[in-house]
Amino acid sequence: IVSCVLRDFNSKILSPMAPIEESKRRAAYQAVDDFVKDGMKLGIGSGSTIVYAVHRIAEKVKNEGLKVICVPTSFQAHQLVVSNNLQLGNLELHSELDVAIDGADEVDSNMTLIKGGGGCQTQEKIVASCANKFVVVADYKKDSKYLGEQYKKGIPIEVIPMAYTPVSVKIKKLFGGEVHLRMAQMKAGPVISDNGNFILDWLFPNDIADWKAVNNEIKMIAGVVETGLFVGMANTVYFGLPDGTVKVL
Ligand code: 5RP
Repeated sequence: IVSCVLRDFNSKILSPMAPIEESKRRAAYQAVDDFVKDGMKLGIGSGSTIVYAVHRIAEKVKNEGLKVICVPTSFQAHQLVVSNNLQLGNLELHSELDVAIDGADEVDSNMTLIKGGGGCQTQEKIVASCANKFVVVADYKKDSKYLGEQYKKGIPIEVIPMAYTPVSVKIKKLFGGEVHLRMAQMKAGPVISDNGNFILDWLFPNDIADWKAVNNEIKMIAGVVETGLFVGMANTVYFGLPDGTVKVL
């Protein structure tokens, strides 16, 4: 299904947008249209879907004269805010946000999320926790009944570098599964987070029901900075569907 075309500044047709991209764009645009209002302080998530949300916010600022302050959740989000000429903020100046918008790697039927595919889950969780509303935007491949149904890369866990082995061993003993240190391309070395830490990816067994308890237990392990499990945080989730509609949870 091709329902959108990309145009350059001279309005020449460049190429049709792939359905998955179009679904991200639609979810993000609808979320921004529903939630973003003049004068708001916004949390800006990370990833590819949030790019469309920032484009929509920038359009509203330009066309409707909206004034908003954007608090980024990563270096990528920081650059996105700046390159779209949006007003940059931080949690030191704005510790309470109106709305945080972010993507997700997987969303289950209870709106529990896996995040951190890009390794940004720590700052994403901090920013989301400062927002009165946390809104998630995603394509249809993220919409699952249970965690792990479609997303097979596991749960990202940010750790202090010296602790990556003991944390891995403890997680395996507690819950089973496999834990991998996330490596850079060509195995050039471990991926380093925006906070200077390592990322573990936990390929969890499929018999886990109580994600809140799991999250709390993992967070108690010395050396764990944050997990990519977002339990009870999302208020609204927008999924762009392949038929061009948007499903809202
Ligand atoms: C980064 C994230 C992203 O929000 C998540 O990986 C979704 O990304 P995308 O919108 O590209 O699918 O958690 O740490």
